[in-house]
Amino acid sequence: MSNIGSYEERIENFDWSISEEELGYKEGDVINIGWYCSDRICAQGKGDRPALLWENSTGEEKSYTYDDLRVCSNGIGAFLRSLGLKEGDRICLFMDRIPELYIGLLGILKIGAIAQPLFSAFGDESLFVRLENAGTSAVITQRKHASKLHKILDRLPDLKHIIIVDYDETRPLKEKEVAFSMDARRQDQLEIFPTRAESPSLLHYTSGTTGMPKGVQHVHYSLISQYLTAKWVLDITEDDIYWCTADPGWVTGTSYGIIAPWALGVTQVVLDSGFSAENWYRFIQKYRVTVWYSAPTAIRSLMKAGEEIVKQFDLSCLRHLVSVGEPLNAEAVTWSEKVFGLPFLDSYWQTETGSIMITNFPGMKIKPGSMGKTFPGIVGTVVDPQTYEPLQEPGRIGLIAFRPGWPAMMRTYWKNEETYQGKFKNGWYMPGDRARIDPQGYFWFIGRDDDVINTAGHLVSPFEVESVLLEHPAVAESAVVSKPDEINMEVVKAFVTLKPGFAVSEELELEIMNFIRKKLSSLAMPQEIEYVDSLPKTRSGKIMRRLLHAKEWGEEIGDTSTLEND
Ligand code: WT7
Repeated sequence: MSNIGSYEERIENFDWSISEEELGYKEGDVINIGWYCSDRICAQGKGDRPALLWENSTGEEKSYTYDDLRVCSNGIGAFLRSLGLKEGDRICLFMDRIPELYIGLLGILKIGAIAQPLFSAFGDESLFVRLENAGTSAVITQRKHASKLHKILDRLPDLKHIIIVDYDETRPLKEKEVAFSMDARRQDQLEIFPTRAESPSLLHYTSGTTGMPKGVQHVHYSLISQYLTAKWVLDITEDDIYWCTADPGWVTGTSYGIIAPWALGVTQVVLDSGFSAENWYRFIQKYRVTVWYSAPTAIRSLMKAGEEIVKQFDLSCLRHLVSVGEPLNAEAVTWSEKVFGLPFLDSYWQTETGSIMITNFPGMKIKPGSMGKTFPGIVGTVVDPQTYEPLQEPGRIGLIAFRPGWPAMMRTYWKNEETYQGKFKNGWYMPGDRARIDPQGYFWFIGRDDDVINTAGHLVSPFEVESVLLEHPAVAESAVVSKPDEINMEVVKAFVTLKPGFAVSEELELEIMNFIRKKLSSLAMPQEIEYVDSLPKTRSGKIMRRLLHAKEWGEEIGDTSTLEND
């Protein structure tokens, strides 16, 4: 089965009410994502269908039906309420990809609280800034991650509860900790909080160039976009076995790794273990995965592992492949066509947009290397960087711009309305990327319009890495840029000047690396530190990352007229 239809027809007759009607939602109704993803599917008589098939690195397996989702998320909601947590409270999910993470999100939403997922690899400093900014009341986590919280607890007055989902007597509970067992606390009934379209649902933190990470605030109405984009772009049907490889610490893992698939009633599979080509192919074969949503870095890693290994598995179950997060090079598309018999279709969006914006719509002609066209209902173009007027001539590079108003659009940056307002120019929402549009209306990604580094699909703020480097006693100044990398597209590189009295040595390098490793996530770790005598600066004293970046990428340096030491 498939949902594929003509792009032209869909774009012509499009209205978001198509999604509202399918979901049985009318303006002004109660809309709660937690309910839509579990109770509604059960009410349709599909409670016995598998919703989640889960496996971890030791081969342990678990499975949950839609009725299990319903009663387990009810149990979580009731437990959170018993702690005094309520609508509007920020509750953080800080876990590996265990079932409690996925179902916990539904439980939080069911009581009207705001879910704040954070990637479990975050170090204590990365965790601190995000929990402090959100004024988070509770964190749901595992024993192995709780120690990071205890290090920063003193500085987080709003944090009242640390909920441990894998408690056992070998480790006594510590300050503010409570034990909770999801499987033991199933509950048939729960009064679901009557959230409306504009009630806040999720807070996802994303990195910018200058300030601290920004909390992207979404609402329950985002479901309207997530549901229909998943149906039409990911082409999910009820018969599919769907695998989204993204971690719910990031928006792909929530929009399309929890909300959309479960609102569509599909069976999804989750692999909670590290990457290896063999392991991934084995997983696809074992669960008979049909629809696969992944990312360019993973695809490039699979390419590197080679074609021979693909032949050892029966992957004939696959029928539809989609990619997101970074530029998907044309070679990756042709390679996947060759080895899987199916091209990966690119999709473009971001944390702020909440749902897919530009994509190689299934059924339409694919141009390998292009991101495709706007999703129906999305008005997108490229504009002039000075005037913010659409560029009329096809092929000219400009800034991507969208007309605001699609359902999954963020509603603000948490406690940072000013930065949010700054994302709009001349009536357009500016995602901060550059592209060109060809005469057929296909978008071709050029690059970001800021210094944010996209390493393996994860955005890293140079500012955040620089700030942590500066905390080290030997570091005087630092500038963080990207450098090219075969698999991850780009990786983090730091330039550092040392304070007087410190000299470059292997020991110092190791010490600095260890110092920052504890504070950042593994993704944000510099792959290289280059020690320099001085950093290029503007006359006003601002470090010019642009110059260092150009050097790493072998690009033209461009206008240096504002340089201090040129
Ligand atoms: C940024 C958003 C929502 C997806 C997960 C990342 C880059 C995203 C593509 C693509 C080239 C892409 C953009 C975007 N990006 N998709 N198909 N081709 N670049 O969400 O962390 O908010 O990152 O990732 O630069 O703005 P995110």
